[in-house]
Amino acid sequence: MLIELKKTTKHSAYRRIPSILKRPFFGIMFVVFIMAIPDTPQAKVTGLCSNCHTMHNSQGGQPVAYDFDGTSFTPTATPKGNLLIYSCLGCHSATDGTTWKDSTTGAPIVFNTVEPTYNTVKGLAAGNFYWVKTDDTKGHNVFSDNPDDNLSVAPGDSGFSGCATNDCHTNFHATVSGSGFSQLDGKQGCTKCHMVDTAGPKGFHHANDGTGTKYVGSADQGWYRFLEGHMSGDGHGVAGVEDDDWEHIPSSDDHNEYLGFHDVDGGYGFGDLGHTMTAYCTGCHGVFHDNQGGPSPWLRHPSDARLPSSGEYANYTTYDPLVPVARPSLDGTVSATVTPGTDMVMCLSCHRAHGSPYYKMMRWDYASTTLSTALSGCNVCHTSKD
Ligand code: HEC
Ligand code: HEC
Ligand code: HEC
Ligand code: HEC
Ligand code: HEC
Ligand code: HEC
Repeated sequence: MLIELKKTTKHSAYRRIPSILKRPFFGIMFVVFIMAIPDTPQAKVTGLCSNCHTMHNSQGGQPVAYDFDGTSFTPTATPKGNLLIYSCLGCHSATDGTTWKDSTTGAPIVFNTVEPTYNTVKGLAAGNFYWVKTDDTKGHNVFSDNPDDNLSVAPGDSGFSGCATNDCHTNFHATVSGSGFSQLDGKQGCTKCHMVDTAGPKGFHHANDGTGTKYVGSADQGWYRFLEGHMSGDGHGVAGVEDDDWEHIPSSDDHNEYLGFHDVDGGYGFGDLGHTMTAYCTGCHGVFHDNQGGPSPWLRHPSDARLPSSGEYANYTTYDPLVPVARPSLDGTVSATVTPGTDMVMCLSCHRAHGSPYYKMMRWDYASTTLSTALSGCNVCHTSKD
C-alpha cells in the first residue's frame, strides 16, 4: 500500500481532488485556507514511515538500507538500529553542493560531499562537515575512518577522572567503550553531541514540541536540536528557539535564539550554567570558561559575559546572524535587537558547531592576512577596532 502511494503520479493525485475544488473560486478559497494554517515547529518528522524505516530490510528480496562511506551510498543487507534506512550521517548528507534539505525525508543537510554553495555561510547554522573532510583544523571530525590529524583530545578539557580512553572528550571519530556511563558506550561522531536517546522519551526525532512556539527546553520536546549532556538530573539539555529553516536564509529578525547565563558570583565557572549553549560546549572544553579571569583584563576571551552598555559595545544593537549573542531568558520570540548590558557573548558568537571554511571553525576568516577580513566578525562587537 505504501509503495503504491509513493508511486502516485501528480496526474492521478489531481484526479483525486474533489471536483468542486477544481472550480476557480473554490480552488482559490481552498488554497487560501491551506495557507492560513499556522507555521508549526519543525522538530518532528513527518511523511511516510517507509521514507525512513524498513521493517525487514528486504523488498522483493533486495536490501532497502544503505551504507554511506562519506562519498557514495551502497545497499547493505545489514539492518540499521531503529529499523532505519540510513545512519545519522547518511540521512543528513547530500552528494551535491546545492541540497540543504533532503527532498524525500526533509532532513537538514550537515554534510555536502562537494563544496556547498547555497548561501553565504555555505551551510546551515552549525556550518557543514565538508571542510573537515580535507582539513581537520576546520571542525569537529566525525568521520570514523579518518582520525583528527592534530588533536587527540578536546582542547581545554577539564580532564575529569573516570572517563575512558575513547570517551566523548577524546576524538570524535572513535567509538566510546568502557566509559562508566552505560548510555555513552557505543556512541561515535554525531551521537557524542546529539545524544538523542539518553534522557526523556526515546526517539527525539518523533518528539512533539507541542508548545505552539519555536522554544524548546525539555527532554520531552527533544531539547534544542537534540543536544544534551550525560550528567545526572534533568540531562543538562540545551534550551533555545529553533529557526525553522535552520538559518538557511537568516536575517536580523529570522534566526535561532540562544540562552546564556551571566554568572559573576560563581567566578565564571560553569557548574550552574544550566541549559545554555555555552554550558554545553564547556562540557568538553571547560577550561576555556573556568579560567576566563574576571572583568578586564580578561585571561581568556569571555563567554557569557554581558556586552557592556557603554563604550564601543553599546553600538551593537541590530542582531547580526553572523555574530549571534545569547539572551538571559527566552520566551519563543525572535528579536532583531541586541541589548548591550543584557545580552552576552558566547561560544557560538565566534565558532560554528560542526565545521566552517575557516581555521578553528570560526564564523569568519579570522586567520586571513587581510586585517579587515580577519576582524570583520570581532568588529561587530568591538566597534571601535575597525
Ligand atoms: C531516516 C533519516 C534520518 C536519520 C537516520 C537521522 N535523521 Fe536526524 N533528522 C531527519 C529529519 C527528516 C529531520 C528533520 C525533522 C524536522 O525538523 O522536521 C532531522 C532532524 C535532525 C536534527 C535537527 C533537529 C531540530 O531541532 O531541527 C538533528 C540534530 C538530527 N536530526 C540529528 C540526527 C542524529 C544524531 C541521527 C543519528 C542518531 C539522525 N539525526 C538520524 C532524518 C534523519
Ligand atoms: C560538537 C558537537 C556536535 C557534533 C559532533 C555534531 N553536532 Fe550537530 N549540532 C551541534 C550544535 C551545537 C548544533 C546547533 C547549532 C546552532 O544552532 O548554531 C547542531 C545542529 C545540528 C542540526 C541542525 C542544523 C543546523 O545546522 O543547525 C543537525 C541536523 C545536526 N546538528 C546533525 C548532526 C549530525 C548528523 C552529526 C554527525 C554527522 C552532528 N550533528 C554532529 C553539535 C554537534
Ligand atoms: C523522516 C524520517 C522518519 C519518518 C518519516 C519516520 N521516522 Fe521513526 N524514526 C526516525 C529516526 C531518525 C529515528 C531514530 C532516532 C530517534 O529516535 O530520534 C526514529 C525512531 C523511531 C522509533 C524508535 C524510537 C522510539 O520511539 O522508541 C519508532 C518506533 C519509530 N521511529 C516509528 C515510526 C513510525 C511508526 C513512523 C510512521 C508513522 C515513523 N517512525 C516515521 C525517522 C523517521
Ligand atoms: C562531546 C565533547 C565536545 C563537545 C560537546 C564540544 N566539543 Fe569541541 N572538540 C571536541 C574534541 C574531541 C575536539 C578535538 C578535535 C576532534 O576530535 O575533531 C574538539 C575540537 C574543537 C575545536 C578545534 C577544532 C580543530 O579541529 O582544530 C573547536 C574550535 C571546538 N572544539 C569548539 C567547540 C564549540 C564551540 C562547542 C559547542 C558548540 C564544542 N566544541 C563542543 C569535543 C567536544
Ligand atoms: C559577541 C560580541 C563579541 C565578539 C564577536 C568579540 N568580542 Fe571580544 N569581548 C566581548 C566582550 C563582551 C568582552 C568583555 C568586555 C568587558 O566586560 O570588559 C570582550 C573582551 C575582549 C578582550 C579583552 C579586553 C579586556 O578588557 O580585557 C579582547 C582582547 C577581545 N575581546 C578581543 C576580541 C577579538 C580579537 C575578537 C574576534 C576574534 C572578539 N573579541 C570578538 C565581546 C565580543
Ligand atoms: C571572541 C571569539 C571567540 C569566542 C567567544 C570563543 N572562541 Fe574559541 N577560539 C577563537 C579563536 C580566534 C580561536 C583560534 C585560536 C586563537 O586565536 O586563540 C579559538 C580556538 C578554540 C579552540 C581550539 C583550541 C586549540 O588548541 O586548537 C577551541 C576548542 C575553542 N576555541 C572552544 C571555544 C569554546 C568552548 C568557547 C566558549 C566557552 C569559545 N571557544 C569561545 C575565538 C573565540
